[in-house]
Amino acid sequence: MTDDIRTTKGKLSDLRRRVEASQNVATDAALEKRRAAGKLTARERLALLLDQGSFVEFDAFSTHHADRFGMDKSHPLGDGVVTGYGTIDGRTVAVYSQDFLVLGGSLGEVMGKKITKVMDFALKSGIPMIGLNDSGGARIQEGVASLSQYGEIFKRNVRSSGVIPQISVILGPCAGGAVYSPAITDFTIMVDEKSHMFITGPDVIKAVTGEEVTMEDLGGARAHNTKTGNSHYLAENEEEALEYVKAILSYLPSNNLDDSPILPATESMDSAPTDRALDSIIPDDANKPYDIRTVVEAIVDEADFLEVHSLFAPNILVGFGRVEGHSVGIIANQPSQFAGTLDIDASEKAARFVRTCDAFGIPVVTIVDTPGFLPGTEQEWNGIIRRGAKLLYAYAEASVPLVTVITRKAYGGAYIVMGSKHLGSDINLAWPTSQIAVMGAQGAINILYRKEIAAEPAKSKELLDTYEEELLNPYIAADRGFIDAVIEPHQTRQEITKALRALRNKRVDLPTRKHGNIPL
Ligand code: HXC
Repeated sequence: MTDDIRTTKGKLSDLRRRVEASQNVATDAALEKRRAAGKLTARERLALLLDQGSFVEFDAFSTHHADRFGMDKSHPLGDGVVTGYGTIDGRTVAVYSQDFLVLGGSLGEVMGKKITKVMDFALKSGIPMIGLNDSGGARIQEGVASLSQYGEIFKRNVRSSGVIPQISVILGPCAGGAVYSPAITDFTIMVDEKSHMFITGPDVIKAVTGEEVTMEDLGGARAHNTKTGNSHYLAENEEEALEYVKAILSYLPSNNLDDSPILPATESMDSAPTDRALDSIIPDDANKPYDIRTVVEAIVDEADFLEVHSLFAPNILVGFGRVEGHSVGIIANQPSQFAGTLDIDASEKAARFVRTCDAFGIPVVTIVDTPGFLPGTEQEWNGIIRRGAKLLYAYAEASVPLVTVITRKAYGGAYIVMGSKHLGSDINLAWPTSQIAVMGAQGAINILYRKEIAAEPAKSKELLDTYEEELLNPYIAADRGFIDAVIEPHQTRQEITKALRALRNKRVDLPTRKHGNIPL
């Protein structure tokens, strides 16, 4: 008996030594290389992300099946990933952080099992799941055992989708099919010049197509923030990336049955200078741009707007703010970028954001100033019909409170798509400057009065004036109840605040079905 206890104690202290050693597994040279590249270790990242001292680790004793795969038996415990839970601003989150210093953070069977275990824990506990990715992808030596784990991870990403917030931070390479986990999660954050995502890397591309491209141009943080839209935020460094995670989480509930954190209300209902500034924001010339961000900042508490996806499809803004301390999602056409037209990228960006807000019970405030969908063969042939449809689908299926304000143009299909009453919006407001019609004045009279204008060009001014007076205004829509009220711009914040108060307990009965069939 005593011998047994001694043996057990010996084994335990041996294991403890190995755990400690594994926490400092990197050789000095590897660590130096990492530091020189401006990269933190897996544990340093967790220390920055989580409240101090809150981290509870899972499976630190796990080791890979060295015998089976003929690998070095001195391989450290933990198998290249640190998993567990901790708190951010006092709220519990589940985390994994891949350790590039162990076999390039490559994902083998044990790493996969550790990750799926913590994902299961997050889902059943109803807490956000945050993945810090830094990996050479499937561990080559483990073959299909590694691939199977990716499949297990993807399955859990999908099952957790819309139930708990899932956030991916890419802090190094993320290659091959491994990219599909971040692709499914709600938000993906990348670090400038440090993160790379691609299905096939530059070497394979060159071999197959002959095309030469650098890793940075192909799948760097800038490419994914500006071109592909795969990334929602471009951080300057790792610290900023992790701060952004905390900021996003502050607007989200821990799960779809919970409420988002509510902060104390900061604004009074009295008119503020920022409210009154809206009275003069619309330029006299209807084709002149202005920055819709000014309107957004006038609406949200303390002008604090956390933009998401800011570098992708800048013709539409999406992001989070608070009204009376409650989270809201904001979607706003941006007239200063491509006149605020809706194109494929803008439609998909906004559609995804509406669905994110709807999944997590966050009301959506929509600010409309768009001349319509972008014309052209490039858009048509790339699928603006099915891809633009995603936006109207997202609005029409949303059951959270929807409040829409039209500041200026709301023409044609874009009027319907951008949170119109007809798709299910609850409160629709319009400024007196708004122009709700099938199209703008010039286009309309050219179609309606082509012969008259050809015969007598001087008549076009009179026709334009008549069209503007009789059709291009918000009062026709207001007459039919499509607009609930025409408000002065300086009343916008107060009217939105009142609408959101009234809608706080909104309930919608939706027909029973397995799921809808959004055009993907
Ligand atoms: C096993 C790997 C590995 C991998 C890297 N390593 N990737 N070990 N499996 N996939 C090891 C290296 O051998 C090296 O070990 C250590 O990690 C560090 O790698 P380096 O190459 O020295 O680092 P660096 O120069 O920074 O380059 C990083 C890298 C490169 C760009 C990630 O290692 C690389 O291209 N790796 C392969 C990427 C890849 O093609 N993965 C498979 C994708 S397909 P030592 O012992 O020398 O320190 C995929 C399928 C997923 O993932 C399917 C899901 C459905």
